[in-house]
Amino acid sequence: MRVLVTGGSGFVGSHLCDRLLREGHEVVALDNFVTGARRNLEAIGLGAGRPGLSLCEAELCQVIPVEGRFDRDYHLASPASPIDYVELPF
Ligand SMILES: NC(=O)c1ccc[n+]([C@@H]2O[C@H](COP(=O)([O-])OP(=O)(O)OC[C@H]3O[C@@H](n4cnc5c(N)ncnc54)[C@H](O)[C@@H]3O)[C@@H](O)[C@H]2O)c1
Repeated sequence: MRVLVTGGSGFVGSHLCDRLLREGHEVVALDNFVTGARRNLEAIGLGAGRPGLSLCEAELCQVIPVEGRFDRDYHLASPASPIDYVELPF
């Protein structure tokens, strides 16, 4: 499947991306890095040519610049820490 993971550079999202890639899916990780870190995706092969993994750096609340259709999406783009979500409620 072609899968969109919003919040793909976050704690949960990056592990989910890794799991989906190991299962043979194509994964697009969408993130604006408001609380996540690029190194979480680099740790699973972003920038090192891991097949099937790509990053869309974008703000979820705006039009997402991704072409094509997805078979599934996982929405994890939400700050999890109480400090972060008080500051970023929307
Ligand atoms: N961490 C846990 O133990 C845990 C447990 C249960 C449920 N959850 C839920 O899982 C989800 C993700 O949690 P997490 O711990 O991975 O948090 P996280 O902060 O590590 O990841 C969230 C990701 O979403 C991105 N993001 C936030 N707003 C965005 C926006 N508007 N556009 C694009 N990207 C955006 C952040 O940059 C970050 O990479 C949350 O909904 C959280 O409540 C987390």
